[in-house]
Amino acid sequence: LAQLNKLAEAAGKLYLGSATDNSELSNSSYLAIISDTDEFGEITPGNGQKWQYTEPSQGTFSYTSGDQIVDLAEANGQLVRCHTLVWHSQLPSWVSSGSWTTAQLTSIIQTHIANEVSHYKGQCYSWDVVNEALNEDGTYRTSVFYTVLGTDYIPIAFEAAAAADPAAKLYYNDYNIEYSGAKHTAAVGIIDLIQTAGAKIDGVGLQAHFIVGSSPGQADLTNVLKAYVAAGVSEVAYTELDIRFTTLPYTAAGLQQQASDYAAVTKACLAVNECVGITIWDFTDKYSWIPSTFAGQGGACLYDENFSKKPAWTTVSSILAAA
Ligand code: G3I
Repeated sequence: LAQLNKLAEAAGKLYLGSATDNSELSNSSYLAIISDTDEFGEITPGNGQKWQYTEPSQGTFSYTSGDQIVDLAEANGQLVRCHTLVWHSQLPSWVSSGSWTTAQLTSIIQTHIANEVSHYKGQCYSWDVVNEALNEDGTYRTSVFYTVLGTDYIPIAFEAAAAADPAAKLYYNDYNIEYSGAKHTAAVGIIDLIQTAGAKIDGVGLQAHFIVGSSPGQADLTNVLKAYVAAGVSEVAYTELDIRFTTLPYTAAGLQQQASDYAAVTKACLAVNECVGITIWDFTDKYSWIPSTFAGQGGACLYDENFSKKPAWTTVSSILAAA
């Protein structure tokens, strides 16, 4: 079976990619796989470009971690989905615990984005400009941004990003917006909010952190992708795909179910021209974020902890090959 990115490109997609993180790059087996452009045509830095690392104190910028990954992708000839500019999490406390006026926080957002996006200008295929602004019921999540600026912080962020790198594709990125429901409807509303304010949004990023056996069906996934396009973005992408077991160890039957869950996502992206690609939220169970967040869960990736390909890898590869 041929490799994933090569097949995705042949099927008309821009990339099939993976998240990575700085500490993982010291594992030479890992580094060889993540650097293989036939397998992965795109990389997303899992942490290094987040505010906590890039502007840990006001006006002090640091790009060491992000640069390591962006430079690696550049050396390999891979695209980079840059991640992420405005997020309530991994936000340094100088931002989250300040008591700002609207003018102050606006300027803080603008300065952060101008500096970071300019630093990476020309190197980012796309930016996740705003990440996870919504609650599960479709209301806006409470954060320092929302508390001080209401929804205005969203267009403010998109405007600043567009000014700093007009060529980068600008995304709103969130989870549980991959299937129909209140949160999806609210994400459509964010496209409208940004465009009504006169700012540019190019894409919606659907994180796709799913659970084996209860992940959304292909028809609903496809309809939801199309709904974002109909609402006015020129592209959509699955940006953080992984499909986890809530009980471990997994069984052979479980791995088959996982493969068919991965298949539904792959087919949905293939069914929608504007779906530019799929990024898995790291390719190996060895470095998945899941066990440290959901104790006892995991097994979510296409490769196991020993870098062996799982049935889901074979299924994704066959589906791409048939496309
Ligand atoms: O950098 C410190 C290190 O100095 C310290 O020794 C170590 C000890 O715990 O922690 C390190 O920071 C960790 C960081 O990852 C880098 O490894 C944080 O504790 C840990 O919380 C952080 O987790 C990241 C998580 O976002 C934080 O919310 C995951 O790696 C990352 O995969 C995950 O990614 C998010 C996306 O950005 C947005 N969507 C959801 C997704 C999964 O949560």
